[in-house]
Amino acid sequence: MRLQVSRETNLLLRPRRLRRTAAVRALVRETRLDPSQFIFPLFVRAGRGIREPIPGMPGQWRVSPDRLAGEVEDARSLGIGAILLFGLPEEKDAAGSGAYADDGVIQEAVRALRAADPDLVIITDVCLCEYTSHGHCGVIRDGQVDNDATLDLLAKTAVSQAAAGADLVGPSAMMDGQVGAVRRALDAAGFLEVAVMGYSAKYASAFYGPFREAAGSTPKFGDRRGHQMDPANAREAEREIDLDIAEGADIVMVKPALPYLDVVQRVRSRVTVPLAAYNVSGEYAMVKAAAERGWCDERATVLEILTGIARAGADLIITYHAKEASQWLASR
Ligand code: PBG
Repeated sequence: MRLQVSRETNLLLRPRRLRRTAAVRALVRETRLDPSQFIFPLFVRAGRGIREPIPGMPGQWRVSPDRLAGEVEDARSLGIGAILLFGLPEEKDAAGSGAYADDGVIQEAVRALRAADPDLVIITDVCLCEYTSHGHCGVIRDGQVDNDATLDLLAKTAVSQAAAGADLVGPSAMMDGQVGAVRRALDAAGFLEVAVMGYSAKYASAFYGPFREAAGSTPKFGDRRGHQMDPANAREAEREIDLDIAEGADIVMVKPALPYLDVVQRVRSRVTVPLAAYNVSGEYAMVKAAAERGWCDERATVLEILTGIARAGADLIITYHAKEASQWLASR
């Protein structure tokens, strides 16, 4: 008899009991995803009437400020927590002046979105690489990115974005002291309530390839290894995180996400502020490419990836999958 057989095996502990049905599995699930924890990145391109597909990031578009509202409404109706804006200016120059121009593409876009929706959570990227003719994240002196000269420009950028109506600004240039410089400048300008999301542990990653193509921000010479972190280092990430918190970061970030889940976990156990992880363009492109070829089930793969990032400890996930993932979560 079957019963007797199982008694003979003497198994008291059977984890399968809690995996028996979908309802029981849902009851004991440890990690739950919700659209409110997703941040959806958008590329805003100077001009009018533009909505062009981004090569290397199927399903993502560069849109002009006048076309942005439609994209954002979709995200809002799905319950996505926030949008993160990147700008592609009409013209680039050595000092990246489009980043901090009052009539810059991001400033224009933020003003329009804010006027249309007071409750939309708008986050802006604070970096110069999309705005500089050389593609570096700051001003160049003697062939290097000059840290302290760049800080002033990042601070100006953040203040102009706050003035346009951003809720949070995200300094991503990996300059030393960038969070402090931005915080001080925001406070001095009276933007005490605008929060700073530090791209605290941002690695010098090959996974930014499609983004740089999308934003036209590939450096014309050299690379970013003199300021972004060495992929081999995890302890150093804790140091970067500590510095950003000391400088006033309200949210910290680990970027990219998938190759750095150990870093996400370390940071989570170290700090009490909200932690974001950036599921970057190359991570997105890999899934899209495999799914297009029928080599993986896109829906299952994406939800597993996002669950993994959340399980590692990320409270917020910046992801280009945000819209589709939110739809899938709603239809589960
Ligand atoms: C700007 C910036 C980059 C990304 C976000 N902000 C590119 C870079 O550092 O070269 C990459 C995001 C992605 O790959 O999705 N400094």
